[in-house]
Amino acid sequence: MKILIAYYSRTNVTANVINKISKEIDCDIEIIKDKKNRNGTLNYLKSGIDAVRGKETEIETPSKNPSDYDLTIIGTPVWASTMATPVLTYLNHKKEKIKKLSIIITTGSSGIEKTINEIEKLVGTTSVESLTLKRNDLGNIAEYNNKISTFISKIKSLGNESK
Ligand SMILES: Cc1cc2nc3c(=O)[nH]c(=O)nc-3n(C[C@H](O)[C@H](O)[C@H](O)COP(=O)(O)O)c2cc1C
Repeated sequence: MKILIAYYSRTNVTANVINKISKEIDCDIEIIKDKKNRNGTLNYLKSGIDAVRGKETEIETPSKNPSDYDLTIIGTPVWASTMATPVLTYLNHKKEKIKKLSIIITTGSSGIEKTINEIEKLVGTTSVESLTLKRNDLGNIAEYNNKISTFISKIKSLGNESK
């Protein structure tokens, strides 16, 4: 099974999770790169407003095509109880090309259900697997690693099913 992981990460929380996962499964990575500066308090606030408004941003042209993959795993931080704006932009461009969807979400604490629902609605399919990590999970390394390993096992078993 060919797997693509496409993700955005502003402060590397999502990136760290995906780096761990990508060491254990055979996959290609697409880092969604926002052209807008998201650093600093003012840009943090503006990012929240962008997310609430469902505004698009400008992202660098993706180099990979989800239609070349059996499974696309979308990684996003929660922004104002929804997906991050660069991920919304990516999905608006690529959603039709996604065959099977899986979702990885990191969050302070809230917005998980709503973010999953909105990604699934946008892509037009339910996700086969999802992994959600809250800031609290990061404080409990055993729990954090356990959630990630369980997710990896489930993704690997999807690959075995499709053989
Ligand atoms: C603009 C913005 C809005 C956010 N909104 C929420 C939110 O609604 N609920 C929440 O629990 N965390 C929220 N967060 C926290 C992030 O979801 C969390 O820190 C995430 O793990 C960051 O991932 P990253 O480092 O990959 O960008 C927000 C962060 C940003 C930058």
